[in-house]
Amino acid sequence: MTHIEFLSQRQSTPFLTDPAPNAKHVEQILAAGMRVPDHGCLQPWHFTVISGHGLQKLSELFVSSSNPVTANLEKIAKMPFRAPMIIVVSTEFCAHEKVPAQEQLIAAGCCVHAMQMAAVALGYGAMWRTGALAYNQKVKQGLGISEENELVGFLYIGTPGKAQRLKASKSFAAKVSYWQ
Ligand SMILES: Cc1cc2nc3c(=O)[nH]c(=O)nc-3n(C[C@H](O)[C@H](O)[C@H](O)COP(=O)(O)O)c2cc1C
Repeated sequence: MTHIEFLSQRQSTPFLTDPAPNAKHVEQILAAGMRVPDHGCLQPWHFTVISGHGLQKLSELFVSSSNPVTANLEKIAKMPFRAPMIIVVSTEFCAHEKVPAQEQLIAAGCCVHAMQMAAVALGYGAMWRTGALAYNQKVKQGLGISEENELVGFLYIGTPGKAQRLKASKSFAAKVSYWQ
């Protein structure tokens, strides 16, 4: 597959199973995350790599952070086990006169995308998820993310659990204008 085919065929893998990326591959995935465009070279992000017993800890955090009256705790408890590894990407905003927080948030988002692509390039599958728990202050606190920072995404990574058809590409026609 050529590089352009690889980029053109990006898609998520919702069904993920063992094995998780090995230690060398995790390093390569994290290194890809560090290569993103980064105005001011602030590296305004943090990666938390969760696997093994860490998934159980995350499950307990999700449950203890949820409202037992309104939430489906059984469903919530299972969420982290949708993949053998999760990389949580959060911001580490830096005060900078030329780089507003918005740009730093975008850079952290690029990290998620870059790591998804790296995981796929290494033969794994991945999916970027958020949901209400990404905006839950108790979850953020449990993960060491301060109130003023953002949990940008849970990047679920693993081995594709079943064969997946390639989705059709979407047309860019309605999304583009040209100045010539
Ligand atoms: C910031 C962000 C958060 C997302 N959160 C979720 C989510 O919580 N649940 C979900 O099913 N998809 C979520 N998605 C979308 C999936 O990652 C995925 O892109 C979508 O299911 C479309 O599939 P595709 O990537 O194969 O085109 C999110 C995407 C982004 C960029």
